[in-house]
Amino acid sequence: MAIIEVKDLFKTFQAPGGRVVAAVDNVSFSVEAGTCLGIIGESGSGKSTLGRLLLRLHEADSGSILLDGQDIRALGAAALRKQRQHWQIVFQEPFASLNPRLSIRQIVEEPLIVARTFKSRSERQEKVVRTLEEVGLSAEFLDRRPANLSGGQQQRVGIARALVTDPTIVVLDEPTSSLDLTIRASILRMLSELQRARGLTYVFISHDIDTVRHFCSQVAVMHRGRFIEVGTAHDVLNDSREPYTQKLLAAAMPPLSYIPPGDVADPDPLIPPKVVTA
Ligand SMILES: Nc1ncnc2c1ncn2[C@@H]1O[C@H](COP(=O)(O)OP(=O)(O)OP(=O)(O)O)[C@@H](O)[C@H]1O
Ligand SMILES: [Mg+2]
Repeated sequence: MAIIEVKDLFKTFQAPGGRVVAAVDNVSFSVEAGTCLGIIGESGSGKSTLGRLLLRLHEADSGSILLDGQDIRALGAAALRKQRQHWQIVFQEPFASLNPRLSIRQIVEEPLIVARTFKSRSERQEKVVRTLEEVGLSAEFLDRRPANLSGGQQQRVGIARALVTDPTIVVLDEPTSSLDLTIRASILRMLSELQRARGLTYVFISHDIDTVRHFCSQVAVMHRGRFIEVGTAHDVLNDSREPYTQKLLAAAMPPLSYIPPGDVADPDPLIPPKVVTA
């Protein structure tokens, strides 16, 4: 069953100088529940705009978006606030996306307060601790501020904040591109395990073709706001007949092995090597 259904989505921005840019231009696609749609394309092709439109962090000009069968463009402010808990996003720059004045506890608790999931503070706190554990952070992080964490730990907090409300759909907008290679591998492995354990649906925006190949069953190629093609990862990444896709793949870096064989030594000693049991 499709959990995301997008039809004829369109979004323009006014560029400096008054020029109008179609950042997302007539895009349609669907995503089956529990799978991952990868979105690749060069810088400025509209990937982040599409990810934000999906969760109504931007308002579309026209088109329809059904998430879990709900027409999210039609929701009023109160309904949208209530539904947000089911649809979350992880951003590229963890530090910029975390409020530096709040403790990790407050950052991860906030979505629960907005969603009014639990009546009591102690239930919320318990959920915060459990979710941090799921992303490999122990309770000793609760009272720290984002600035006292490594980049990888900050992104684990970003992921915990997205998962604490038990969403069904998560948009991952280049979640590891600001991180070192070894940390990137352990975060990707964790995201993959979380997807399996929680049955999550991912929209995974990435420049890294090899990661998308491992992670996603379906892949869409974006260029100047349009979907050039969408299909199975194998068809798009190995057998594409589209000249633009062929050019994009040829320009990509040689594949990096994104899940190293066996348990690599994690450079961050506070993160246990295996964070989730399936
Ligand atoms: N808030 C905004 N105001 C004006 N123009 C915007 C805004 N956000 C995006 N754009 C423009 O829309 C187009 C698509 O941008 P977007 O950030 O979605 O691309 P992207 O594929 O995510 O790029 P990158 O790979 O660099 O992250 C670009 O031309 C960008 O300049
Ligand atoms: Mg982007």
